[in-house]
Amino acid sequence: MKSEGFSPPFSEIAPYYDRLMSFINYQSWVNYIERIIMIHRIEEKLILDIACGTGVCLELWLKKGYNVIGLDGSEAMLEISRNRFDYELFKQGRVKLLKSDMRNFSLDEPVPVITCLYDSLNYLLTPDELYSCFKSVYENLKSNGLFIFDMNTIHALQVEWGNQTFERRDGPIHSIWNNVFDPHTRISTLRLTLNIYENGQIKTIKELHQEKAYSLDEIRKLADDAGFKISLYRHLTFKPACEMDTRIMGVAIKL
Ligand SMILES: C[S@@+](CC[C@H](N)C(=O)[O-])C[C@H]1O[C@@H](n2cnc3c(N)ncnc32)[C@H](O)[C@@H]1O
Repeated sequence: MKSEGFSPPFSEIAPYYDRLMSFINYQSWVNYIERIIMIHRIEEKLILDIACGTGVCLELWLKKGYNVIGLDGSEAMLEISRNRFDYELFKQGRVKLLKSDMRNFSLDEPVPVITCLYDSLNYLLTPDELYSCFKSVYENLKSNGLFIFDMNTIHALQVEWGNQTFERRDGPIHSIWNNVFDPHTRISTLRLTLNIYENGQIKTIKELHQEKAYSLDEIRKLADDAGFKISLYRHLTFKPACEMDTRIMGVAIKL
């Protein structure tokens, strides 16, 4: 979808992304996922994070002693990720970054755990795309490996975001979040405007983002079809997910 004057998602906002998301407690997300990994008795300390963005979670995993692979489709986001880590970590093979599409990627070796966080799967706008991603993940996992992801629900996109405009201020960034939800396609279109106050001047960035909401049954069916055994939980809990949750966690096992 094109919109006059709006850039594609994650092109221009990359340098401002971490500041905009500074309210997220990524550490608690990573701690929760590590618990799931331990429950499943996976001992190899290697994580592939698809749609890794600016690499915030990669850094947290690294601090826990894991080796990390980050994959993302946006060169601008990967560039921020690259600058986060010392060159030595790349040389030692502790960090790898790949520019690839999460709907169709291929690693040299399968990995024990793959994650995909912060709505990234909602950016796949058709069931076929979501299925392709599940299938690619499945093919790049070891046997008994885990795919752990979060997603926004229909309730989140239709009601919480709805047809509303929000404004925020994060330090020098004034952001305007204009959301429109289409109930037929279940796609939420976000026109995001950032006004950034830098060196006495205002820089304006506009990006168009789209997320699709899937029902819990659709997610289960697509993951099943890809070969997974999947459980859905309320975000950061082990309670079963329901449609009224805003964010859910998926834990999919490659049997
Ligand atoms: C909301 S950000 C989340 C970034 C990171 N996971 C986090 O938790 O901060 C979504 C990310 O998904 C990436 N992305 C969206 N569609 C993608 C695709 N088809 N393949 C690879 N990356 C994609 C974007 O480039 C962006 O970095």
